[in-house]
Amino acid sequence: MIDNLPEGLTARHPTTDDHPRVLAVLDAWWGDLKGEAGAMERALLLPRLYFQHFTTTSLVVEHPDGALAAFLVGFLSQTDPDTAYVHFVGVDPALHGRGIGQALYRAFFDLARAHGRTAVHCVTSPENTASQAFHTRLGFTASAPLADYDGPGLARVAFTLALAETPAR
Ligand SMILES: CC(C)(COP(=O)(O)OP(=O)(O)OC[C@H]1O[C@@H](n2cnc3c(N)ncnc32)[C@H](O)[C@@H]1OP(=O)(O)O)[C@@H](O)C(=O)NCCC(=O)NCCS
Repeated sequence: MIDNLPEGLTARHPTTDDHPRVLAVLDAWWGDLKGEAGAMERALLLPRLYFQHFTTTSLVVEHPDGALAAFLVGFLSQTDPDTAYVHFVGVDPALHGRGIGQALYRAFFDLARAHGRTAVHCVTSPENTASQAFHTRLGFTASAPLADYDGPGLARVAFTLALAETPAR
């Protein structure tokens, strides 16, 4: 499913059983970004429905003992037939900088292409400078921070990438 992961790690599509496992790592993996308000925001961004209805375009990465190493939750836009969307992605901080985030995105790009999509979109919070650096490195174009994008007080940086400009794996 993803052939360029560090040795020992494997990827598969998630199931509903993965929902509590992913929720359990969010605060640690995000370094408690934005404190309690951030914790609430993150939990509310990942209701169970993503692990029921978006599994075929989402991925989890695990160690040989089954411990969670990374995840990506994404989907194909129902409204825009050209677009795919990465909703949430996280890599265990102990594994940062080893190409796992990039491998997850490349696998998602391939899935998106296979469904005829030509662009990938995602957003992050302006405080998440690591996420902005990562997405820019992958070739995404970033907007300026967009005030109240996701609701009052919830600014976002929006990213866009044209798949034609990103080689297939
Ligand atoms: C953002 C995140 C997914 C990156 O995952 P990762 O596996 O560490 O990233 P990779 O090793 O695949 O890095 C890919 C490229 O991005 C660059 N990059 C990754 N994190 C970076 C950072 N914090 N600052 C600068 N560059 C960074 C890498 O250097 C690499 O570039 P290279 O190809 O020139 O070596 C990970 O840091 C993470 O899970 N963060 C917490 C959760 C989060 O913020 N998710 C995104 C918002 S929803």
